Amino acid sequence: MDITRVAVIGAGTMGAGITQVIAVSGVPVTLIDRDSTILDTAIGRISAQLERAVTRERMTRDEADVALSVIDTDSAMEGVQDSNLVIEAVPENFELKSDIFRQLDNICGSTTILASNTSSISITRLGSQTSRPELVVGLHFFNPVPRMSLVEVVSGGRTGDVVVDTVSAFARDLGKTPVVVQDFPGFVSNRILIPMINEAIFTFNEGVAGIEEIDAVMKMGMNHPMGPLELADLIGLDVCLDILEVLHRELGDQKYRPCPLLRQMVAAGKLGQKSGEGFYSYED
Ligand SMILES: NC(=O)c1ccc[n+]([C@@H]2O[C@H](COP(=O)([O-])OP(=O)(O)OC[C@H]3O[C@@H](n4cnc5c(N)ncnc54)[C@H](O)[C@@H]3O)[C@@H](O)[C@H]2O)c1
Repeated sequence: MDITRVAVIGAGTMGAGITQVIAVSGVPVTLIDRDSTILDTAIGRISAQLERAVTRERMTRDEADVALSVIDTDSAMEGVQDSNLVIEAVPENFELKSDIFRQLDNICGSTTILASNTSSISITRLGSQTSRPELVVGLHFFNPVPRMSLVEVVSGGRTGDVVVDTVSAFARDLGKTPVVVQDFPGFVSNRILIPMINEAIFTFNEGVAGIEEIDAVMKMGMNHPMGPLELADLIGLDVCLDILEVLHRELGDQKYRPCPLLRQMVAAGKLGQKSGEGFYSYED
């Protein structure tokens, strides 16, 4: 199977980044969001990133222009119609994603691959919302997408081997390294990362150390490029909470209980970099 046109659903942090790397690889891509102002913001962010790459001589002006020219936007789901791969990147909520997969199953051609960028939700369960579970796969990019080389390819209970191979080859075409994992809550990456972030939040909440001190210990002592609280702000505290809820519910172990401080910050709209405040402040 050759991927000749892609649609990305959801133009937030991840959808915009995924669209950018696909466009840079020269494959036509339609970015879809129900909110047209979010689409404008995403295109503005992508152009700014490409402009920066030109300034830093990582890309020529022509390459940046071609990349921008292969991006379309649409605020209706029907924009997916000509794509043979759709990548869903809406918020981490099972009901919302299920609804999108059911709509995609009705709209898309019968051979279109439906991928989810979910961080933790079962690909098998998303596949079962459709009449094509063998064409449903996890394609988990990392943030920031243009800089992170890993793509976790999640094989669901009924995903076809040919689909796993096709999306792995596509990830390589984007300059990424695919790693195939089995469908289990949080897969490999977030099964290990998000409980560590949660533990860092408990550690802060219990007064063991301050925010900067916790990040400093993990950066200098463990050689992590970012501290866990800084990383939580980058991922989005709402996304971290959503993933913990999935791990807690699906694996049924108290060790995944979200820290009450995380819940409180999300309820207060302190979501990290995207809202201007999280554990750190990002106001100008
Ligand atoms: N943020 C991260 O670091 C990260 C990393 C890897 C994977 N993920 C996963 O990627 C997915 C998206 O996360 P994000 O951080 O980009 O979220 P986000 O909140 O930044 O963006 C989600 C976008 O989806 C749009 N949306 C919501 N409902 C829609 C609908 N019905 N139709 C079309 N668009 C709709 C919203 O308007 C928003 O623009 C989640 O599943 C998340 O778990 C996130």
